[in-house]
Amino acid sequence: MALYDSIGEGYINYRIPDSRISSQINLALGGAKKVVNVGAGTGSYEPLDREVIAVEPSDLMIAQRPRGSAPVIKASAESLPFENKSFDAAMAILTIHHWSDWRAGIQEMLRVAGKVVIFTWDPVFEGFWLTRDYFPEVLRIDKQIFPPVDKIISLIGNANSKVIPIPGDCTDGFGSAYWNRPEAYLNESVRKSMSTFARLGNIEDVIQRLKSDLDTGMWQGKYGHLLTLKEMDLGFRIISSVE
Ligand SMILES: C[S@@+](CC[C@H](N)C(=O)[O-])C[C@H]1O[C@@H](n2cnc3c(N)ncnc32)[C@H](O)[C@@H]1O
Repeated sequence: MALYDSIGEGYINYRIPDSRISSQINLALGGAKKVVNVGAGTGSYEPLDREVIAVEPSDLMIAQRPRGSAPVIKASAESLPFENKSFDAAMAILTIHHWSDWRAGIQEMLRVAGKVVIFTWDPVFEGFWLTRDYFPEVLRIDKQIFPPVDKIISLIGNANSKVIPIPGDCTDGFGSAYWNRPEAYLNESVRKSMSTFARLGNIEDVIQRLKSDLDTGMWQGKYGHLLTLKEMDLGFRIISSVE
């Protein structure tokens, strides 16, 4: 069973594509007319003005794709069911860290498309307050599963990476999206839409510690300066191959 068949419930409620990230993905896709979205999930960030085919292994994620979204094929990145160079571009958004073999998946993207666009997190980044002070286990796991950006670039060959700062009001509730909205992490439904939390055991004591630090002003004393920032570099990058 695909991982997201067990953790994907309610994904669309908290993982609303963020328009600023979407613009950056569209920019990276350039003039591509025919696009394959690999690890497409519920269809976030799929451009509406291009011909898109989605690839997704989880039935539960496929079932949450809104009516009218791009056609979807149930398959995995490591073995894409397409002829060589069937697409102008292949995109993979917040997904390569879930692949059983990210190198094979990216090689498949390069085989089926003229260019690749990957949005991911670079594990050379030291995490942020939540993982540093409260969930070091999350940082340890993330550093294991996310491929380093320099390794992705050397696999692709001719590619560049762009810093994608995360807005303070980011609508896509991935792990660090609430970097300046700490109360959000107290909400179990918010945490359920983040795959890293699904990998942890009982975390109630840590959540209570965060709640207490917020109630006493301890968190604000240490991190209150974040509340004045509009966006922050949290280690997210768009890697695009150069045509
Ligand atoms: C965090 S979700 C991202 C979904 C979507 N791209 C988005 O931005 O919302 C990760 C997705 O990767 C998919 N996935 C996991 N393993 C995969 C694989 N080997 N090949 C393709 N997709 C995979 C999951 O089923 C899930 O839908």
